[in-house]
Amino acid sequence: GFDVSKLRNQTGLVTLDSGYGNTAAYKSAITYLDGEEGILRYRGYPIEQLAEGSSFLETAYLLINGELPTGDELSAFQNEITQHTLLHEDVKRFYDGFPRDAHPMAMLSSVVSALSTFYQDSHNPFHENQRHLSTIRLLAKVPTIAAYAYKKSIGHPVVYPRNDLGYVENFLRMTFSVPAAEYELNPVVVDALDKLLILHADHEQNCSTSTVRLVGSSQANMFASISAGISALWGPLHGGANQSVLEMLEGIRNSGGDVDTFIRKVKNKEDGVKLMGFGHRVYKNFDPRAKIIKAHAHEVLAALGKSDELLDIALKLEEHALADDYFVERKLYPNVDFYTGLIYRAMGFPTEMFTVLFALGRLPGWIAQWHEMIKEPGSRIGRPRQIYTGVVQRDFVELEKR
Ligand code: ACO
Repeated sequence: GFDVSKLRNQTGLVTLDSGYGNTAAYKSAITYLDGEEGILRYRGYPIEQLAEGSSFLETAYLLINGELPTGDELSAFQNEITQHTLLHEDVKRFYDGFPRDAHPMAMLSSVVSALSTFYQDSHNPFHENQRHLSTIRLLAKVPTIAAYAYKKSIGHPVVYPRNDLGYVENFLRMTFSVPAAEYELNPVVVDALDKLLILHADHEQNCSTSTVRLVGSSQANMFASISAGISALWGPLHGGANQSVLEMLEGIRNSGGDVDTFIRKVKNKEDGVKLMGFGHRVYKNFDPRAKIIKAHAHEVLAALGKSDELLDIALKLEEHALADDYFVERKLYPNVDFYTGLIYRAMGFPTEMFTVLFALGRLPGWIAQWHEMIKEPGSRIGRPRQIYTGVVQRDFVELEKR
């Protein structure tokens, strides 16, 4: 009963594109991605060079402002962020209300949304100074919010930020220090986490970024938009995959370590089982981030003096999957999440914190995309169309006659 002529409206033809596989919703000058060639560039700079040569805050500055900072610009940016790392004491009370076993991603998105109640000056997205302040507040406070969520989950008192520490160092200390024992910062861990954050910092119109842009297109403030992005990231098909990969590897280990039985299950699509950390909507040859991370997984585990039987299972799983027609035909390769969990685990993070670490990394990308969206001349509210498949028309039947 659907009237096909309705697919043509005043603005053109309405198309159905499931999962937006071929629909560009925005023009963007932030991230360049070539899925066939495995190329990822932020503002034109190859991800490999940024991971090697820059710091996370330098990359964040680049994404948000469009250019790499000079030394003075970077110091000013770092200083400004450092001055905003503290949370209002009342924010702490939110954590008292959450159940002890609350997932940290739920706490993160709730508290980020709640920041808009503390900083109501953020509500007008057209005020440039306010946009800047919200940017600094988010970059500064999200690591504190994340560390508090972890402290809540283990029943420990929160650790306040320290102004003499760098961004990643501060986060690690707020997460792992306890009153009785100061956390000893290990440069290998600091450096590896900094790199991982850079690799996650932006990835054009992925699910969470599109969510940030869609919510922001209604002119909702930056805190509300980014809180929505955090919720989108949580799902196991997106950022939540890093937690799922670890759970999958543990499951294989606990049932005897046979990767081929697991691969068989995946191929038979038993109970919807997928090889988590494999496949990507855009990368069809390899994920350049996964290449860098795989090399680092070995380095970090070796430097921390840890061997991990799960790494051995992951390597075997990758090898066997890449030699299997099912994965070859569907162009399924390890994505960014396949090896990250193993590194986070070696650093001491519990599995539930993995997606939070992804959120810390993706934050500058979300912010940069939100700015680009709000500043775009003539930008319009995001409003997809639909193909209606319901009953076209029928008459109302009174309750007693149904
Ligand atoms: N394991 C097994 N089969 C898979 C996998 C996988 N990981 N990924 C895709 N496939 C199969 C699908 O079942 C489908 O097979 P079919 O043609 O027989 O039905 C085919 O490959 C095409 O897959 P789609 O689901 O159409 O691919 P899409 O682009 O929609 O999904 C996604 C991409 C979500 C990443 C998918 O590959 C997936 O679920 N991977 C596992 C979760 C994951 O690792 N997510 C992290 C993504 S990266 C990130 O967000 C950082």
